[in-house]
Amino acid sequence: MELYEAMKTLRAVRRLRPEPIPEDVLHRVLEAATWAPTGANAQPWRIVVVRDAEAKQALGALYAEGWAAYAAQYRELIADAPERVREKSARMLRAGDHLADHFGETPAVLVVCFNPKNLAITDADQPRPSVVGGGSIYPAVQNLLLACRAEGLGCVLTTLLCQREPEVRKLLGIPDPWYTAAAVPIGYPLLRGHGPLSRRPVAKMAFADRWGEPL
Ligand SMILES: Cc1cc2nc3c(=O)[nH]c(=O)nc-3n(C[C@H](O)[C@H](O)[C@H](O)COP(=O)(O)O)c2cc1C
Repeated sequence: MELYEAMKTLRAVRRLRPEPIPEDVLHRVLEAATWAPTGANAQPWRIVVVRDAEAKQALGALYAEGWAAYAAQYRELIADAPERVREKSARMLRAGDHLADHFGETPAVLVVCFNPKNLAITDADQPRPSVVGGGSIYPAVQNLLLACRAEGLGCVLTTLLCQREPEVRKLLGIPDPWYTAAAVPIGYPLLRGHGPLSRRPVAKMAFADRWGEPL
């Protein structure tokens, strides 16, 4: 499909059907991930494609715990928000509840792992949280999300399982020095799937020459 069309309709799809994903489709999605740039072309990421029913159920149980805590906090946060914001957030939370309830039935969960020793972390010494290392991991995730979009697969980048990293590593046999950056459940959409996005306009996000100068 046309690239811009894929990018502008790549919203989070959390309601997925349990039907398996054909091997050739899965291969194309994973190959798209390998095309992403990484610092020094080190490709310091790997993906564990989890399709084993027991492993997915175990991941799902961990995910559901994290989601329950996150959703409770979020519901509290939006309680006094304007009606429009509450409605939009409530829709997202309902979809999130569905994903948490059915995580283990997703046909494949792509657990994205990384090796911190091979990340080019050029901001490691800055007095703020370091983000550059993630730049050698998440472009690959974005590539695979876009490939899912092109293949008609629903998907959502999730990170809640990173809170349970020791259990996830044990469950999937992830060795030292590999850690987890994301888990992407993928599957054919139960409802409409991908569609229009709600995002800030360019005028709010980009400046001309100096911070704050309108472009
Ligand atoms: C770093 C990151 C972490 C995320 N973690 C989760 C998650 O754990 N669970 C979830 O349901 N969605 C997660 N999301 C999806 C976001 O909630 C979603 O992309 C955002 O709300 C925009 O939604 P939309 O693309 O449907 O407009 C995450 C997204 C990003 C980029």
